[in-house]
Amino acid sequence: MRTIIVQPSGTRIHVDPGDTLLAGLQKAGYAYTVGCRRGGCGICKIDVLEGDFSYCRPVADTVITTEERSDGTCLSCRAVPEDDLTIQLRDASLRLVNPLLGQINATARQRAEAGRTAPEEQ
Ligand code: FES
Repeated sequence: MRTIIVQPSGTRIHVDPGDTLLAGLQKAGYAYTVGCRRGGCGICKIDVLEGDFSYCRPVADTVITTEERSDGTCLSCRAVPEDDLTIQLRDASLRLVNPLLGQINATARQRAEAGRTAPEEQ
């Protein structure tokens, strides 16, 4: 499980390992401005403030420049979190469009976080 913190709201979202940021946020009932969903348009660019990610498929240099790759810019439709991430959307706000999915995700995240901090049984 990865926890994604979306700034500036501080919204915390559970993302399953292997899911892209976009897929994870959508599974959790959230939406924001996206375009092609295939790494071709760059509309889904976000800023990663903390944490690591990798791309599940190659991303063209015409979509993400070398400079952007080093400054924390990422394509959320292709980026897979390697650990917990803190991100910030650009020119878009995160909208909860499916409250039921949002509640299911919040419960899963709380259970996973409780499991992380539980003392080991002897
Ligand atoms: S939505 Fe087009 S590159 Fe991500």
